[in-house]
Amino acid sequence: MAGGSDPGWALRVFSVFLLLGLVLDFIGCDPVKPFGIMNGNVTLNPSYDTVFKEITWKKQKDKVVEWYRGSGLREFPPYQGRIFLNVTSGELTIFNLTSSDEDLYELESQDLKDSITFLLSVLEPLPSPILNCTLTDEKVIVWCLIPEHYNRHVDLIKYSWDCPLEQCKNSSNPELEFKKDNDLSKEIQCTLSNQVSKMKSSIVLRTCVPDDRSRHRWLVIIAIVTSIVILLLMLFRKSILRNRRKAHEIKQGPH
Ligand SMILES: *[C@@H]1O[C@H](CO)[C@@H](O)[C@H](O)[C@H]1NC(C)=O
Ligand SMILES: *[C@@H]1O[C@H](CO)[C@@H](O)[C@H](O)[C@H]1NC(C)=O
Ligand SMILES: *[C@@H]1O[C@H](CO)[C@@H](O)[C@H](O)[C@H]1NC(C)=O
Ligand SMILES: *[C@@H]1O[C@H](CO)[C@@H](O)[C@H](O)[C@H]1NC(C)=O
Ligand SMILES: *[C@@H]1O[C@H](CO)[C@@H](O)[C@H](O)[C@H]1NC(C)=O
Repeated sequence: MAGGSDPGWALRVFSVFLLLGLVLDFIGCDPVKPFGIMNGNVTLNPSYDTVFKEITWKKQKDKVVEWYRGSGLREFPPYQGRIFLNVTSGELTIFNLTSSDEDLYELESQDLKDSITFLLSVLEPLPSPILNCTLTDEKVIVWCLIPEHYNRHVDLIKYSWDCPLEQCKNSSNPELEFKKDNDLSKEIQCTLSNQVSKMKSSIVLRTCVPDDRSRHRWLVIIAIVTSIVILLLMLFRKSILRNRRKAHEIKQGPH
């Protein structure tokens, strides 16, 4: 029985190696992930040192461009006139990127050991973030919001903050919390960024607590009005007293 288990053991070791080989192969084929911006250019660079005799670039199953040394180059729609193939390096540049260019690309050539794949993402330029703030008890919370119309690859957006207060250091959350007794004159800046663009907006903390300011203004107005009324009353009383004294003097006058 022990002798009989030997072939099984060998088979198991073999399949482990096979699996390992498949896994390594799979890792080897992990696509490169370039990012382009809408209407911009992107270059897919195979970074492979060889002298090409032939090159075929495909988007999924569709040919983008093919080239054979000696027989020239052929571009396929919708890429005609919108690409450049460097036949020395194998690099493919796509101009005027559109959202439908976002896809899996593949470089095939007999001069490569394996085909090389690229997963291209086409991002829209970022909008300026919208900053709003809410006031709760003793806290001011500032929100950095992505405008609603922006909805491509929202997951790739990173947040960062800049301000002279401690809270801004190293924060990558979409919201920040301040205390009402923090220095409210400070400007808080939020930056949205992704692989191809970056946009920022800022807000002054004091604008988050308008209630306090208007209450303050009312207090000032009330104080001024009260002072004027008191002043008028005093003047009025004085003149009444003066008139009374005059009347008294006149009464007692001719003695
Ligand atoms: C795209 O490439 C063209 C031609 O090389 C260049 O003039 C243009 O500035 C590039 N545009 C961007 C967004 O890189
Ligand atoms: C890119 O688009 C601009 C404006 O739409 C156009 O003028 C230019 O010729 C285009 N370039 C290419 C290489 O298609
Ligand atoms: C093509 O690629 C080679 C090698 O990277 C480079 O030296 C050459 O300048 C490129 N040609 C063009 C037209 O970009
Ligand atoms: C600010 O944005 C947050 C998150 O969307 C929302 O809950 C809050 O109501 C907004 N506040 C104001 C004053 O718009
Ligand atoms: C900020 O982040 C960097 C790197 O993640 C870290 O080394 C540093 O200690 C952080 N600083 C603060 C104030 O948390």
